[in-house]
Amino acid sequence: MATIEELTNFCKRKGFIYPSGEIYGGLAGFWDYGHLGSELKNNIKAQWWKHHVHKREDIVGIDGAIITNPKVWEASGHVENFTDIAVICTKCKHKFKVDKQELEKAKCEKCNGKIESKGVFNPMFTTQVGPIQDDSTLAYLRPETAQLIFTNFKLVQENARLKLPFGIAQIGKAFRNEIAPRNFIFRVRELEQMEIEYFIDPTKKSECPYEIEDIEIKILSNKMKEPKKMKISQALKNNIIKLKWHAYWLSSSLNWFKSLGANIENFRIRQHLKEEKSHYSTDTWDLEYNFPFGWKELQGIADRGTYDLEQHEKHSKKDLKIMDEQLDKKILPMVVAEPSFGVERALLVFMNEAHTIDKKGNTILKLSPKLAPVKVSILPLIKKDKNLIKTAREIFKNLQEEWNVTYDESGSIGRRYARNDEIGTPYAITIDFDSLTNSDATIRNRDDGKQKRIPIKNIRDTIRKLINQEIEFENI
Ligand code: GAP
Repeated sequence: MATIEELTNFCKRKGFIYPSGEIYGGLAGFWDYGHLGSELKNNIKAQWWKHHVHKREDIVGIDGAIITNPKVWEASGHVENFTDIAVICTKCKHKFKVDKQELEKAKCEKCNGKIESKGVFNPMFTTQVGPIQDDSTLAYLRPETAQLIFTNFKLVQENARLKLPFGIAQIGKAFRNEIAPRNFIFRVRELEQMEIEYFIDPTKKSECPYEIEDIEIKILSNKMKEPKKMKISQALKNNIIKLKWHAYWLSSSLNWFKSLGANIENFRIRQHLKEEKSHYSTDTWDLEYNFPFGWKELQGIADRGTYDLEQHEKHSKKDLKIMDEQLDKKILPMVVAEPSFGVERALLVFMNEAHTIDKKGNTILKLSPKLAPVKVSILPLIKKDKNLIKTAREIFKNLQEEWNVTYDESGSIGRRYARNDEIGTPYAITIDFDSLTNSDATIRNRDDGKQKRIPIKNIRDTIRKLINQEIEFENI
């Protein structure tokens, strides 16, 4: 496994991710995405949206504003309760954050030295809305996307004619003035979240109509000392996970990662301790991942109950109840599960899983073809032959209609394969002199270097089937 420094350097060297404004020395907790990084990030978001919105009938999406009426954050409790305690080590001066209950006992996480509190901070970034200072309003950059789902909840439900149970999904930027941004893109100050608020009738908490896509995983509940491997369905049966809704969403998230090539051995689920839960949550399960710097939170799945809608009803004095047709009365739904995670952490997982070094010391980025920034590279065998170039460019133009593909004629063919392996391009098409007489070309598979000949007219269709995992490379 690569270290986090190796991944950081690799991402910069290959044009995935750079320190933001690096020519001025960067800014802690802010990162810019290069061409390959933005393609990868877009692909992760598109796959998440496809899985959670397009492929379901009960979830619709929104795109809320980053800056909204500041009363939203008073109502949600973020102004009062969204706080961290900053501490500094008296010995090595390392800064980090601790929870309230840890403050008395905590030691420096780096050198075990004595720590000193630097006070309680609210990590919300503030700004002024309106250009003339006397008339301007103090506002916040949203620290989570979720609240925009709650404030728009009733409109969305009416417009999309949603019936309980249903979910509202959102992908978007959030900002947190973290005390100690670190570990590359793991903890950043400008992040992007992918969140779902899943609403149910509160009297039907035990009635989850969906089948659990079962999966075996290490589980650590707040009553267990060590994680234990078991099937999610077993954990539900043994009352370790209390609600089927939580078991369902945990397995759905795990299966999403698995379907995109992640190794489930590197994941576990952990229940929050009582004192660890956010101010709005009655139960939270985290999906954790074994990052190069240890087991850390990847995704939270919180039971927010009716907390948020009740708060917004109270503060806005608007009725947010909706008609429950089965009960034939108006009710305030509850959020039984809030699967929420950062695009940056997902990207780090996929990058960490994909980054491999072969026997010759070459990097091969084994990203799922669905996520790969470049799907295919078109390589004419030599660049001096007009007919080869013409055929190669025709294929390139054709594939460009569907994906981000590249055309590369510079350097030896081996060098061009290696360049593509390193950035994760799953397939390469080589046009040689036989292609001109036989109307076929070579397709090369990144992960094992195997090659096959296929008719030029079938290339686009074959690649689509490979990307969608409808056929294996061996069976082309
Ligand atoms: N709406 C619920 C919510 O925001 P959270 O546990 O504070 O809950 C959810 O955040 C997820 O957002 C985390 O599991 C993590 O994936 C991501 N996240 C939170 N803070 C982050 C940060 N500073 N940098 C990167 N990702 C972060």
